[in-house]
Amino acid sequence: MSKNNFYIETYGCQMNLADSEVVAGVLNGKGYEASNDLNNADIILLNTCSIRENAEQRIYGRLGNLKKYKEKNPQTVIGILGCMAERLRKDLIEDKKMVDLVVGPDEYRRLPELIDAALHGEKGISVKLSRTETYDDIIPYREDGLSAWISVMRGCDKFCTFCVVPFTRGRERSRGLDSIVNEIKILSDRGFKEVTLLGQNVNSYNDNGNDFADLLAACAVVDRSFRIRFSTSHPQDLSDKLLYTIAEHNNLCNYIHLPVQSGSNRILELMNRTYTIEHYLDIIDKARKIIPGVSFSTDIIAGFPTETYEDHLATIDVMQKVRYDGAYMFKYSPREGTKAFKMEDDVTEDAKTKRLNEIIDLQQSISYELNQNLIGKEEIILVEGFSKKSDQFMAGRTDTNKVAIFPITESVKPGDYIKVKINRATSATLFSDYVGMVSDRNEKAQLTA
Ligand code: SAH
Ligand code: SF4
Ligand code: F3S
Repeated sequence: MSKNNFYIETYGCQMNLADSEVVAGVLNGKGYEASNDLNNADIILLNTCSIRENAEQRIYGRLGNLKKYKEKNPQTVIGILGCMAERLRKDLIEDKKMVDLVVGPDEYRRLPELIDAALHGEKGISVKLSRTETYDDIIPYREDGLSAWISVMRGCDKFCTFCVVPFTRGRERSRGLDSIVNEIKILSDRGFKEVTLLGQNVNSYNDNGNDFADLLAACAVVDRSFRIRFSTSHPQDLSDKLLYTIAEHNNLCNYIHLPVQSGSNRILELMNRTYTIEHYLDIIDKARKIIPGVSFSTDIIAGFPTETYEDHLATIDVMQKVRYDGAYMFKYSPREGTKAFKMEDDVTEDAKTKRLNEIIDLQQSISYELNQNLIGKEEIILVEGFSKKSDQFMAGRTDTNKVAIFPITESVKPGDYIKVKINRATSATLFSDYVGMVSDRNEKAQLTA
């Protein structure tokens, strides 16, 4: 019999994507083989997300399909990993009879033994959270490519009142600086060109006195042509040192994801976000002074308990002041176990929808205007491949994470840094012409000067 194949389907944030690669690394090390085809797998794993009700609903829907699959293929092992596994635990096995395994985010090392047992018909559940697990020594399994993720921390200690993450991911802990730098070396040797350093709040990274700015600086010098992104920054912990470090290294992207959540100080306090809008706007101003050309994206929640129309207008006001390049926008979703769950979910569904739509419309028009301002300008992009919509075009991303497409050019291949000139733009895409190769990323300094 051939060695067992596993198939992983990933939901939720980038950290879950990175975790799926860790899981694949753990299983690969024990002789299991990754498969991209569910029909060809002995083990089907769903790495799940609990952040909002609709995230869980989607996964329940998927489990509905898999139930039929399991009826036809009773020997297939079905496992739930990630945040839903941690949140719902044994309920998942009791309610969903076709689930064989429930494994939380800090227990992935145990997967091989649990899968072995499941292949022999034994159900397994393993959901302990750890104060120390960072999977430092596990080499994630990645297919060849240009962009990779590395989780530099796990867990979260912030306890924003709306959020399940501190409960599903446990306490905050940082992975060692050396092991991260080493992984970037490996990625660079394999031909990768870009990495995103991940954590729920990367600004509180701490490895024996090395803070996040130290980590970024250490990563930046590994390979000067290697682009480094990071996410997410909590506004409370963003230091001046971090801003100066980003300004100093050309390959640290001029792009900060800085979730604001709400523009109202009253709501921010109820959310336990620990900053005021004034402080938040000060950070934005400072960052713009220190890092020329820096751009921002954000997360916004519409309809948190007690949010009035005036509070909503305060959010609109912050969006107009900052003019974000992009935003992830959500309706508030009550999550059991959180502090906000005890507050009355008193903003009606209609009001939530209306406010969210206003926020989305405004963001779209801001993104459109910001992109129009780029027409006639030159940008450096990292070429990723063909455009999703047309094989006559290739696509890449700017430092500030915008997608630019340009007509296929013979000498240009994925992984190249090239200069393009923007000739047209929508709110989501820059249309451009090829200008030339960039041999040295330090040219960026001249471009933005
Ligand atoms: N650690 C990151 C956020 C991770 S969750 C940070 O603090 O920025 C991603 C986003 O989901 C959050 O920023 C928030 O906007 C949204 N979110 C989290 N819980 C939510 C809830 N209960 N309802 C609606 N949106 C939520
Ligand atoms: Fe959730 Fe807040 Fe932690 Fe982000 S910082 S993961 S929103 S508790
Ligand atoms: Fe979802 Fe867990 Fe990420 S709840 S957003 S998968 S940390």
